[in-house]
Amino acid sequence: MKKILVTGGLGYIGSHTVVALQKSGFKVIVVDNLSNSSLDVLEGITNITGKAPVFDRLDLRIKQDVVAFFKEHTDISGVIHFAASKAVGESVENPLLYYENNLNTLVYLLQECKAHHIKNFIFSSSCTVYGEPDSLPITENAPVKSATSPYGNTKQISEEIIRDVCSVLELNSIALRYFNPIGAHETARIGELPVGVPQNLVPFITQTAAGVREQLQVFGDDYPTTDGSCVRDYIHVSDLADAHVVALQRLLKNNNQKKFEIFNVGTGKGSSVLEVINAFEKVTGENLNYKIVDRRPGDVTAVFADTTKANEVLGWKAKRTMEEALESAWKWEQQLRKS
Ligand code: NAD
Ligand code: WQD
Repeated sequence: MKKILVTGGLGYIGSHTVVALQKSGFKVIVVDNLSNSSLDVLEGITNITGKAPVFDRLDLRIKQDVVAFFKEHTDISGVIHFAASKAVGESVENPLLYYENNLNTLVYLLQECKAHHIKNFIFSSSCTVYGEPDSLPITENAPVKSATSPYGNTKQISEEIIRDVCSVLELNSIALRYFNPIGAHETARIGELPVGVPQNLVPFITQTAAGVREQLQVFGDDYPTTDGSCVRDYIHVSDLADAHVVALQRLLKNNNQKKFEIFNVGTGKGSSVLEVINAFEKVTGENLNYKIVDRRPGDVTAVFADTTKANEVLGWKAKRTMEEALESAWKWEQQLRKS
């Protein structure tokens, strides 16, 4: 049974990926410093899969702890690196926190991959690297635009670091550029756990419907889109998790090829904010209190993926609909409020 290290494995996307990996027969070791997650997630994963992943509470910013971890855990076949800070606004306020947490940790991990001859590395990148695209849908060949936030910059720099390392070491890597992940596991035992006021659309919607927030603000209805609200590619987090499993299988099969590949991971379909709200109301029967307000600074008009490369090369395609994702997000929100 191949042993896979998942950093940030108690976080939103990481936890769903741990479930998918365990279900596909991998042995998983999770490291997380719990800065944006909790130990309850470990219980949720174990409830779903019937297997507790090995867990080590580790802060990847502390180099000597990272070194010690890799000395203790041998036979790691691959690393999936989710751990990072992800709040765009916070990164503008505190860029050094982001450069430390998103870049130092990557360098330390890659140094240990080198030292221990670990050849397979998957990195969580983001569609944020495309900025405001010149044409839609976006392919992986679209230019990476000058980053508008330190967070976005860390994703661009990380991809460059990995590319450079792959060109000289026996490292194979895949960077997955996620579009907008939403939803929760179908069992509602794991899901997104935003700290404080959610910045992202779907958790804000579910919290508003649950009465935790009074009203959702829709940021702008004067964009050049069909209904004036921004368009994004919302992907079910379980589909995103599955993409990691196939990416890992590809790396394990192609061992030693010194390659760095990038894949868009989205559905290929754009949905506007108002379409998301309508779909949410339809699948849940809830009436959402919302109002249109001014644009949010920094938002791009429309982004959605061309997923041909992931479809053809990875043999992966998003299976779940946005409606299913919204339903699962609502089930998760209700479950959270019960406990
Ligand atoms: P998350 O915050 O839920 O998960 C990240 C996990 O990493 C958390 O459990 C956190 O405690 C842990 N972590 C952070 N810093 C750490 C450190 N120094 N040492 C150990 N653990 C640490 O975020 P997520 O939404 O699951 O995102 C996972 C990855 O995907 C991130 O790299 C993020 O930038 C990227 N991404 C997320 C989105 C999104 O919309 N959620 C979109 C594109 C890319
Ligand atoms: C989606 C749409 C908002 C909240 C962010 C990061 C990106 C990536 C994914 C990590 C936009 C609108 C939102 C609200 C609203 N993360 N909205 N009212 O901005 O596409 O992407 O998460 O890599 O880097 O920037 O996602 O969920 O914040 O917004 O109207 O209360 O919903 O304007 O059009 P975004 P989001």
